Amino acid sequence: MLAARPLPLDQALAQTALAVDAYVKAALAEFDLPVARAMSYAVEGGKSLRGFLVLETARLHGIGAGAAIPAAAAIESLHAYSLIHDDLPCMDDDDLRRGRPTVHRKWNEATAVLAGDALQSLAFELVLETECSAEARLDLARNLAKAAGVAGMVGGQAMDIAAETTASPLSLADVEALQSGKTGALITWSALAGPRMARSDLRPLKVYGDALGRAFQIADDILDVEGDAASVGKAVGKDANAGKATFISHLGLDGAKRLAKELVAEACDALADYGSDAETLRDVARFVIARDR
Ligand code: IPE
Ligand code: IPE
Ligand code: MG
Ligand code: MG
Ligand code: MG
Repeated sequence: MLAARPLPLDQALAQTALAVDAYVKAALAEFDLPVARAMSYAVEGGKSLRGFLVLETARLHGIGAGAAIPAAAAIESLHAYSLIHDDLPCMDDDDLRRGRPTVHRKWNEATAVLAGDALQSLAFELVLETECSAEARLDLARNLAKAAGVAGMVGGQAMDIAAETTASPLSLADVEALQSGKTGALITWSALAGPRMARSDLRPLKVYGDALGRAFQIADDILDVEGDAASVGKAVGKDANAGKATFISHLGLDGAKRLAKELVAEACDALADYGSDAETLRDVARFVIARDR
């Protein structure tokens, strides 16, 4: 029998987004509160890249989507929390996210802070519903905590905000550390979800996830310069004025694009041991720098 042909990446991402959305909505269904509606709103409408990495790296280790979907919903909830807070007036002060008003604009700041807080808690509730051994669940949850906190996303976000007001520009190594925290940590966690669930070797997907995360944030910074708000779904042209530390300020647009391409090649090379079974993950790496949103 012929093996089923995988869906084109855009369809597979869209399918993941729907499944994640349904899982989160089911968890929130009993709460008839504005904060719960804001949580659900914030999870909708993204690319679901992190959730897809969870499902695809699980598949690569023989684990089905049914078992891995709670972990995918967990990382997308955590990511949605990071975006709600990133958009607040005290952070990047943005009015548009995923082509719609940001949570603090649609509701208010208090609701946005609380929806973010509760999405973070929900992420840990959901990750503990992942169908795998108790040891693997513990490993997923402990590493999600590390990736989300001061060693990861929050640490990177703090460096990002501090860099706006420091007198001297950050070094390239500092920009690297900032981005590996604010963006890389959650992406690497997602890429490692499959081998963690299967209790198998983390190394190839660690190299893949780290390179992918770096390429992903460079592409985000390039979209801020070259993108069009209508397709990106968020304000563009803000980073330079806000004094954001990015690779573009060090390497220029062309240098940043070259580096992003090199990182995609590095990510793809790291998958050699998985052979053709990892072709979808290679497609993900190529997509990350080719996307227009
Ligand atoms: C945006 O992430 C925030 C960054 C880490 C750059 P995404 O580009 O994955 O946002 P959504 O989830 O698709 O909206
Ligand atoms: C945000 O980076 C990263 C996190 C939310 C952790 P950006 O501030 O560049 O993301 P966008 O451009 O607002 O999506
Ligand atoms: Mg930001
Ligand atoms: Mg922002
Ligand atoms: Mg950005």
